[in-house]
Amino acid sequence: MKAIVCVDKNWGIGKNNDLLFSIPDDMKFFRETTKGKVVVMGSNTLKSFPNGNPLKNRVNVVLSTKLSREDCVIVRNFEELKNAIKGYDDVFLIGGERVYADLIDYCDTALVTKVDADGEATAFFPILDNRVGWTISSQSEEMISNGYKIKFTKYLNSNVKTL
Ligand SMILES: NC(=O)c1ccc[n+]([C@@H]2O[C@H](COP(=O)([O-])OP(=O)(O)OC[C@H]3O[C@@H](n4cnc5c(N)ncnc54)[C@H](OP(=O)(O)O)[C@@H]3O)[C@@H](O)[C@H]2O)c1
Repeated sequence: MKAIVCVDKNWGIGKNNDLLFSIPDDMKFFRETTKGKVVVMGSNTLKSFPNGNPLKNRVNVVLSTKLSREDCVIVRNFEELKNAIKGYDDVFLIGGERVYADLIDYCDTALVTKVDADGEATAFFPILDNRVGWTISSQSEEMISNGYKIKFTKYLNSNVKTL
C-alpha cells in the first residue's frame, strides 16, 4: 500500500473537513497516479468529496463502522480492509488524518506533495522526517502552482508492517 497526500509546511492536511489549498498540479498528479487503482479512505474523506460521491475510475474502499452504500466497498475494520485489497497490486491510502495515522506504517511508500505555506490546519499527517523507517528517496524541483510553491517528494519505509 502507498500513501498519497498533500501537506503544508507543518504537515497539515485539512480543516473543516476540507483540503487546505486548491493546487491544480497536485490534483493532476493525484488523478494520474491513482487512476484505475484502488483508493482507501476514511468516511470523512468520502464525505469531503463533491456531493459525497466516490472518485470515478477507481475502486473506492471506505473504512466506516456506520455507512452502508452500494457505490463503494465499505469495510468495517482492518481485517475486512485486508480482504478487500487482497490481490490488488496498486493500493493508495488517500486519507484522512485518522486513517493515515493508523495505517501509515503499513505503507511501503508515501507520495507527499509539500506546499510551502501555512494552511492553518486542524488535521495533520504523521511527520515522516521523525518516523522510524521512513526516509526521502527522491524530490522534485520546486514549482509554482496556483501561486503556491510545491515540491513532489517520495518517502520509502524500510520497516513495513503487514496488515
Ligand atoms: N491533504 C490531503 O492530501 C488530504 C487527503 C485526504 C483527506 N484530507 C483531509 O483530512 C480530513 C479528514 O480526516 P479525518 O481524520 O477527520 O477523517 P478520515 O480519516 O477520512 O475518516 C475517519 C472516519 O473513518 C472511519 N474509520 C476510521 N478508521 C476506521 C476503522 N479502523 N474501522 C472502521 N471505520 C474507521 C470512521 O468513520 P465512521 O464514523 O463512519 O465509522 C472515522 O470517523 C479532512 O480535512 C480532509 O480534507 C486531506
